[in-house]
Amino acid sequence: MPRILSSDLQKHINEEVAVSGWLHKRRELGGMTFLVLRDRRGLIQILDEKSKEVEKLDGLQNGTILAVKGTVVEDERAPGGVEIHEPEVTVDVPVKFVMPIEIDKPLDHKPDNLDVLFENRVVGLRNLQEAAIFKVQDAVKQAVREYLQGLDFVEFNSPKLLPGSTEGGAEVFKLNYFGREATLAQSAQFYKQIMVGVFERAFEINPTYRAELSATTRHMTEFIHIDAEMGFIEFEDLLELMGGLLNYAVNRVWETSAPDLEKWKATKPVVPAKVPAIPMSEIHEKYTHETGQSTIGEKDLRPDEERWICEYAAENLRSEAVFVVDWPVSEMKFYHRVSKEHPEFAERCDLLFRGVEIATGSMRENRYEVLLEQLKTKVKGNPEHPGFKYYLEAFKYGMPPHGGFGLGLERLTQKIIGLNNVKEATLFPRDINRLAP
Ligand code: 4AD
Ligand code: MG
Repeated sequence: MPRILSSDLQKHINEEVAVSGWLHKRRELGGMTFLVLRDRRGLIQILDEKSKEVEKLDGLQNGTILAVKGTVVEDERAPGGVEIHEPEVTVDVPVKFVMPIEIDKPLDHKPDNLDVLFENRVVGLRNLQEAAIFKVQDAVKQAVREYLQGLDFVEFNSPKLLPGSTEGGAEVFKLNYFGREATLAQSAQFYKQIMVGVFERAFEINPTYRAELSATTRHMTEFIHIDAEMGFIEFEDLLELMGGLLNYAVNRVWETSAPDLEKWKATKPVVPAKVPAIPMSEIHEKYTHETGQSTIGEKDLRPDEERWICEYAAENLRSEAVFVVDWPVSEMKFYHRVSKEHPEFAERCDLLFRGVEIATGSMRENRYEVLLEQLKTKVKGNPEHPGFKYYLEAFKYGMPPHGGFGLGLERLTQKIIGLNNVKEATLFPRDINRLAP
């Protein structure tokens, strides 16, 4: 008899079927036993009225893998409206250990319980609400791929073991690479630009690493980076690309993943096709005016300011996402392009969504000589260093005007679902204290 999945039982009412999965829960009620089995689509309730067959489970725990044959009967009290009666139970894999946490009800996501949540991640992920986060994440990833591939982007994979840092700063992991110093990639920045010289439009979705010393709700030491780059564009096109991606992803995920989003009571974010853009100085002025805390002249946004401007945009601009533009040139990366019309600004944008930065994008300096100069003056970089030499080669041999962005998959998933901490949207989070599971 072929195996039937939980989601297909409705099609087999009054028929004899075979199902299999993990014992998820067991309940005794007035001489009857209810078993709940979990398979990849959901739960199956099994009723053993005489509790004879379930004697085979004596001494066995949740997690035990069972094969069950029985008749499908309609019952609105059962998950999915059907249950299996008169079961014949076979134990495929007996489990004698008691699970460290109960997984048949929602797990505790309060900030002071997150460590317990992550410590028990291996079994905790078998909780259906928990697994839903990562099905949504899978749908987000697929939506991103659909959107970019629909625009003729080619997906590639770049190495994560590098001879030098791509983003600068202190947040770089160094390691001993057979006696030489190497780093773990902080982004695919140089490679995605190199790939513009090949495909014009290229992206990757891969892990990147940051030696983040601080414990925040936004930072991890490893995260999945959606890194995209596009040739023959200008700044406005970049905003359109990034805003369009967020708009598409949100709509698509609500089409494909409604039941999983429902498990978290996620509300669909309002993201217009054209996401509004506000200059940083204007945000500082508004925030200072509204809160009485002066940020005028600051060269970045404070976390609280990011939250505030998102609330402002939701209320006044009908958008839960907003671009921050006109970033001071003093803070720019060496690969950024300085605005022609306003040389005090770099052509950079940060995309904020529901209170947090989910992406940074910029136009890149594509003129070899200017890039070389910026490398030397901005980061004291040595053009002959293997960390820069090959990147520069792309420019030596012709690069069009181009721009792109890096977007954190976990932050995007977190905000789509409405979770408080980016780690809750990460299967096995890595931070300064956690290297396992
Ligand atoms: O803002 P970041 O550092 O930008 C870059 O890496 C550039 N190369 C992007 C570009 O193409 N111009 O990182 C991009 C995004 C952030 O907006 C955030 O969503 C995510 O990556 N991110 C992190 N997510 C989790 N933990 C961390 N420590 C993160 N650091 C960045
Ligand atoms: Mg950034």
